[in-house]
Amino acid sequence: MPVDTIRWTGKSVRIIDQTLLPNKLVYLDCRDVATLWDAIKTLKVRGAPALGVAAAFGVVLGTRDFKGNDTAKLVKQVVQLCDYIATSRPTAVNLFNALNHMRGLALKNTNVPARVLKVLLESEAMAIYEEDRAVCRAMGRHGAELVKNGMTLMTVCNAGGLATADYGTALGVMYAAKEAGKKFKVYALETRPLLQGARLTSWELQKNKIDVTLICDNMAATVMKNKKVDLIFTGADRIASNGDSANKIGTYMLAVLAKYHDVPFYVVAPQTTFDMKIKTGAEIPIEERAAEEVTHFGARPTAPKGIKVFNPAFDVTPNELISGIVTECGILRKPYIKNIHEAF
Ligand code: MRU
Repeated sequence: MPVDTIRWTGKSVRIIDQTLLPNKLVYLDCRDVATLWDAIKTLKVRGAPALGVAAAFGVVLGTRDFKGNDTAKLVKQVVQLCDYIATSRPTAVNLFNALNHMRGLALKNTNVPARVLKVLLESEAMAIYEEDRAVCRAMGRHGAELVKNGMTLMTVCNAGGLATADYGTALGVMYAAKEAGKKFKVYALETRPLLQGARLTSWELQKNKIDVTLICDNMAATVMKNKKVDLIFTGADRIASNGDSANKIGTYMLAVLAKYHDVPFYVVAPQTTFDMKIKTGAEIPIEERAAEEVTHFGARPTAPKGIKVFNPAFDVTPNELISGIVTECGILRKPYIKNIHEAF
């Protein structure tokens, strides 16, 4: 069941405002595309697969009030909407993949009446949403085979129901393992600076009665050394065709620690997170965010005024540090270039 993160109501894109969690569970109806764009930018809706769904629904939202029968005009509007939504966040490729589907559909159907194209666009967005629900469950089943009774797992950021339509990637593995009757515990890294691990993963896992312990990011090495971590599962925002994987800042650090402590490190991500156009992770655009996310704790300053800040939101884990990539088609392993090309 995990969590109803996003849906199309017929009039609005309804999302959970994730900036208010864990204190309040509030749904926000985005009734225009500017509101949805802002919700993406400010992380009210976030997580790579959820961004893909949000982008697709955004196109439906932006064409909902289109009147008349001028299909060429509607197609132009779709293209403009896609270009606009694409400016919201740069790293998660799911957003661009979903927009490419929507744009491609419009460009392929310039001969149908505008009202028919509107129906096709809505069906495509619903298909993207439904596909995410299905592939997350498939990834969960594949990943759950790695989880044995009594294991201790670790994760970073939030790759859960809140980051997808409803079930999650890395956390989907945990839900599937629990559904299969396995007992295990999880360490969740708080994930500075925006605390997706503390605010979202802890909330989700606790709500779903999974034994979760929250730690600060800088405790990961100690926990690996002293508490025997068996497996690490993370999500991804973009995976290059050689398997290099971008995910929340801190993931690379975790992979390096995992190598030192001999802990298998798995990335869990659907096909929509792969960018087969790029050869390595060096080509992945990394979002840099506002300095205030680092210099403030809520409204309270925690650093001197005027301090220089570097705030990349993601980092890239090189493929050699990844034990396997759990996808809806199964678990891909080294050599990644060959196995990823064969799988897709
Ligand atoms: O900045 P965010 O919160 O959108 O970052 C999200 C992540 O890094 C997730 O781990 C990733 O999108 C995978 S979600 C299944």
